[in-house]
Amino acid sequence: MHTLLLKTDSLCPDPNVCQQAGDLLRMGKLVAIPTETVYGLAGNAMDEQAVHAIFAAKGRPQDNPLIVHIPAPDWLPRYAADIPDAARKLADAFWPGPLTIVLPKRDCLPDTVSAGLSTVGFRCPAHPVAQAVIEAAGVPLAAPSANRSGSPSPTTAAHVLLDLDGRIDAVVDAGPCAVGVESTVVSLHGGVPHILRPGGITPDQLKNVLGTVEVDPAVLKGLAPDAKAASPGMKYKHYAPKAKITILKGSLDAFSNYVRTHAERGTFALCFRGEQEKLGLPCVCYGSADDDGSQARGLFGALRELDKRSAQTVYARCPRETGVGLAVYNRLLRAAGFSVIDLN
Ligand code: TXA
Ligand code: MG
Repeated sequence: MHTLLLKTDSLCPDPNVCQQAGDLLRMGKLVAIPTETVYGLAGNAMDEQAVHAIFAAKGRPQDNPLIVHIPAPDWLPRYAADIPDAARKLADAFWPGPLTIVLPKRDCLPDTVSAGLSTVGFRCPAHPVAQAVIEAAGVPLAAPSANRSGSPSPTTAAHVLLDLDGRIDAVVDAGPCAVGVESTVVSLHGGVPHILRPGGITPDQLKNVLGTVEVDPAVLKGLAPDAKAASPGMKYKHYAPKAKITILKGSLDAFSNYVRTHAERGTFALCFRGEQEKLGLPCVCYGSADDDGSQARGLFGALRELDKRSAQTVYARCPRETGVGLAVYNRLLRAAGFSVIDLN
């Protein structure tokens, strides 16, 4: 299969490009599209065959549900069977934006989208191109991140092509994604709202609207061997480059001392901007130490860069656990298989 590359400006979507992408999607084809978080691999959520094709192109486990993208909040009642007050408040506050709300699904959405669950994650993306493409398609779009299952999520069209060239019909290139990590996934099921995956909307932002919100323990600790996953995605290896990554908690000095005594051939530091000079080994940077937004934009590209440079062992600087930093830390923990050494 030849993958068509369609280019557009990100703020002023080219109407011809968006129409072409929308037409392909309505015909059941797969098109990778930019969103404000990461590139998504979109297919018509109402078309069971297209949904199957998404799983196949990604090599995604059959029990890991897809999220459904709508162009405007008023599409929600067509596909969600029940919309509690809390969901309305969240949609009012954060849509369009990087928040996915898990709600009971209507029967009109095929069971393959939700991998057999009675709930579906809904998201209304803030990216002008994503909105224009969904509008042009005229149908809700199932869209997981547009990477091969297990590899880092794509924040550029080039990342998408590295993983999926020849496996999908088209990719719409609108440049790099503004947020860089995926949406926050919130479940309102069973009492206190739960963050299943931290992302572009922070726990404090959610608390301001909902009063209370809990972060699922698996976000920072991983899933215990016998525990049931609140979100199927928690079960799977993700974001992992080929290298063995270890996160080192502590100051830059402590980090520098540790890597100097442990570095071998093929060892890299995954560090913050401006720290390379201090470290004396090959480095890949993923943002500034004091700016979690820049870390979010840089992390997935940095993980891919480590593969490109054939890193074998990676020691990573630790992000903060607050704000968007929580999402950055969660992705890095998962890339590291939850391997952390505390140097304090
Ligand atoms: O920012 C994003 O959310 C991107 C862009 C493309 O919109 N999409 C994305 O999709 O990250 P995906 O499929 O890579 O991640 C969705 C996550 C998975 O971990 C999945 O297990 C979880 O959401 N999820 C989906 N439906 C769920 C449900 N009904 N209950 C619990 N978790 C669910
Ligand atoms: Mg994903």
